[in-house]
Amino acid sequence: MTSAPVVETPETPTHTVQKVGGRIGAVIAGVRLGGDLDEETVTAVRAALLKHKVVFFRDQQHLDGESHEAFARLLGTPVAHPTVPSVDGRYALGIDNDHGGRANQWHTDVTFVPAYPAFSILRAEVIPPYGGNTLWSNTAAAYRDLPEPLRILADSVRGVHTNDYDYAATRPGASSAALDQHRKVFTAVKFQTEHPVVRVHPETRERTLILGNFLQKLSGFRAADSRALIGVLQSHVERPENTVRWQWRAGDVAIWDNRATQHYGVDDSDDHERTLRRVTIDGDVPVGVDGRRSVLLAPEAVPEPGHGIASGASTDGTVAEA
Ligand SMILES: [Fe+2]
Repeated sequence: MTSAPVVETPETPTHTVQKVGGRIGAVIAGVRLGGDLDEETVTAVRAALLKHKVVFFRDQQHLDGESHEAFARLLGTPVAHPTVPSVDGRYALGIDNDHGGRANQWHTDVTFVPAYPAFSILRAEVIPPYGGNTLWSNTAAAYRDLPEPLRILADSVRGVHTNDYDYAATRPGASSAALDQHRKVFTAVKFQTEHPVVRVHPETRERTLILGNFLQKLSGFRAADSRALIGVLQSHVERPENTVRWQWRAGDVAIWDNRATQHYGVDDSDDHERTLRRVTIDGDVPVGVDGRRSVLLAPEAVPEPGHGIASGASTDGTVAEA
């Protein structure tokens, strides 16, 4: 006997939202993404995104750089990466496995600036014949799962995030010229930002963990204690129950709430081409459980990118107007 698929709250007669995992991830079917998407559907997509943390769309091959960005504008203000130049002179970041910038560490995008992106919208152009999946984890669920004494500790701790992290330690054996070049570009400006380890999500009011690969140390702790504590907290984020794994097809789009997730690009497709395009939407400055906001420690201000505004530039504590 086969059971009918669980369809979660069909928001309009024309599309469905179906969970992929118990705690994170849903597939939205029946939506053609683009700058002309109607308001009712955009509202439904946004609600599903906040609820499921990452949503997936198949068969969006009609999208190109321009319509990808046009759709992104329906969710907020696109922002440029603070250091890595775009591939189109506008907002599209290339996630290509031949640049040496493989994202095979758990991270939240761009947490080395205060107002890191609220949403990331990733579109698959070329997908390898095997491997190259992406994993996401729900950092609100990870926080809720912590035993109470650990939650209390996490609520009161702050951590320093940087883009100038120890690449050699996280990529043992990786020393290609492409990787060295990527690192040089990625750290052209060295950022340091102090975030609360737990932020209150500005839209859902959930508490979420701000950890991941850009977290260098916990403020006020010795290095060894800091490493051990980060390891304990991060292990809850990486628990398989809190994650979903997506097997990409060309034309897929994934959108995640970058304030409530971490993700990991699995580097297991050998030398096959893997080309994706990412547009990020401006976020706001995180606020901790105690009301304290994140602080940019270095440089004095986020430098202006070649086009538009940089991610993290809106440090006034509000989400920029779309
Ligand atoms: Fe990422």
